[in-house]
Amino acid sequence: MYCVKQITPDMYWVGGSDRRLALFENAYPIPRGVSYNAYVVLDEKTVLLDTVDAAIGELFFENLAHVLDGRALDYVVVNHMEPDHSSTLARVLERYPQAKVVCGAKTQQMIGQYFSLNLTGRMVTVKEKDTLTTGRHTFTFVMAPMVHWPEVMVTYDTTDAVLYSADAFGTFGAMNGNIFADQLEFKTQWLDDARRYYANIVGKYGTQVQALLKKAAGLDIKLLCPLHGPVWRKDIGWFVDKYMKWSTYTPEEPGVMIAYASVYGHTENAANILASKLADGGVNNVSMFDVSATHPSYILAEAFRVSHIVLASTTYNAGIFVTMENLVHDMAAHNLQNRVIALVENGSWAPTAGGLMKASLSGLKNMTFINDMLTLRSALKEEQLPALEEMASILLSSLPGQAPILHRPGELVEQNALFNLSYGLFVLTAREGDKDNGCIINTVTQVTDSPKRISIAVNKANLTHDMVKNTGLFNVTVLSREAPFALFQHYGFQSGRNVNKFEGAQMPRSRSGLCYVEGCSNAFISGKVIQTVDCGTHTLFIADVTEAKVLSAAPSMTYAYYFANVKPKPQPQPQRKKGFVCRICGYVYEGDTLPPDFVCPLCKHGAEDFEPLP
Ligand code: FEO
Repeated sequence: MYCVKQITPDMYWVGGSDRRLALFENAYPIPRGVSYNAYVVLDEKTVLLDTVDAAIGELFFENLAHVLDGRALDYVVVNHMEPDHSSTLARVLERYPQAKVVCGAKTQQMIGQYFSLNLTGRMVTVKEKDTLTTGRHTFTFVMAPMVHWPEVMVTYDTTDAVLYSADAFGTFGAMNGNIFADQLEFKTQWLDDARRYYANIVGKYGTQVQALLKKAAGLDIKLLCPLHGPVWRKDIGWFVDKYMKWSTYTPEEPGVMIAYASVYGHTENAANILASKLADGGVNNVSMFDVSATHPSYILAEAFRVSHIVLASTTYNAGIFVTMENLVHDMAAHNLQNRVIALVENGSWAPTAGGLMKASLSGLKNMTFINDMLTLRSALKEEQLPALEEMASILLSSLPGQAPILHRPGELVEQNALFNLSYGLFVLTAREGDKDNGCIINTVTQVTDSPKRISIAVNKANLTHDMVKNTGLFNVTVLSREAPFALFQHYGFQSGRNVNKFEGAQMPRSRSGLCYVEGCSNAFISGKVIQTVDCGTHTLFIADVTEAKVLSAAPSMTYAYYFANVKPKPQPQPQRKKGFVCRICGYVYEGDTLPPDFVCPLCKHGAEDFEPLP
């Protein structure tokens, strides 16, 4: 029995859903099923836009016959030849022998590859911006190569402002009666599957999706009709904005995703402790995945959502644990970009997983690796807690624009109240033996004026802490507002245990022999420790001032100024690439000019088939 939906007075959804299929494309779990959408327009001529997967073929043919109601089918528009939308095409053409096929040249070739049909006199081959008028309606055809296959096009009904968008704007999930997205709880119940669909199916082709979005930006779109999932008639801009973020590999929001591979629970233990420390630092948006328990398609989708990723893997067969290797491969294959990555490796005798994960991901664009990878030898030990805390601290420092911590009713101490204290920002330097080191602190206070004494509180996880404790000497450089973010990255986002922050630097020294920072500072103060107080995570050092100099008249950097003016704002748009995209297969040539004799290495088409990147 047919089951159709009328969308406009003369346009119908004639698709259906499959809740039995376990793996979409034999690769991605779809516990909520999937819909295969096809549409019929009843005009002076009748038009079918795409067909469906053979799994719902019988229903589809009943739907088609019901909507046509005895009329002939005049045109079948083929926007996409992947068999989930075309495996019933041959049967449609047999059943409706006068129907003509409207498609691009690449699609025409693929029809010949998939089927053995004699379509002489039945092909209407279209190219970019060609039109077809069927009476009241005029359809314009727009090529969208590699969204998600090279032959893909989208069809725009200029009469009713309907965009038949092929795979773009699709989602996993069977239709449950309602056909419009605004009838569903899309933002809470569907978005995760829409993101998972995007990331896994077309995530690799961000540049090509951008090209399509640029073309779509010039269209008035009242209805968005994808090949999977609901039809959009409201809030289209919201969904387009998601596509803008996903296709430019821009995190949707600041947050940390921790994915771990653990055989006996020791790597998982370290991952849990790291997550706990991030939560203690005020990060609400932390997600965790056991890569052996969760399908990588879900984890990849989360990697597209958040700004920061922690990968923790045990070493296995001298390499990355197999399920983590799958995930890392997926992240690389889907071209993920613009993320901060922290790595934890484990290995009882020869840990290699961390270096291999980094090597696999280092070819991706604009990935920032936190320098101090944590290496476990079987299990996390007490003495490694400072290193784990330092990793948490670096992640916290680099998280853009964290949401304020909400005060929970019943809590006596509201964290945000402490944020309203005014703080400066300082480089704390120390020297032990031949080694100089320094870190960023915000806890310098004058204690007494006569004698002049200051106090500093330093996190025990910092190497500089140990050096001050061992030598009793330190310098504090008071940073001015001229201090760039790179300075905070240099002293604050990496550990002196792994890098020499002073290598090759010609730094001035105080009389105590310790370095201080010139150029973006307004004073330095040398201290000699007279008392220490153990404050748990920090040590409070109280010190006599042995030397102090004004370096400039520039105003001091405050914590508030740093957050408002120095620290990068959340979700910066990545720089657009310059280059040209092949209209036929989506290959991207990067460069300012395309050589006139250039031949696409994928499809062998010439320069005339390339257009500038949006
Ligand atoms: Fe839904 Fe690319 O096929």
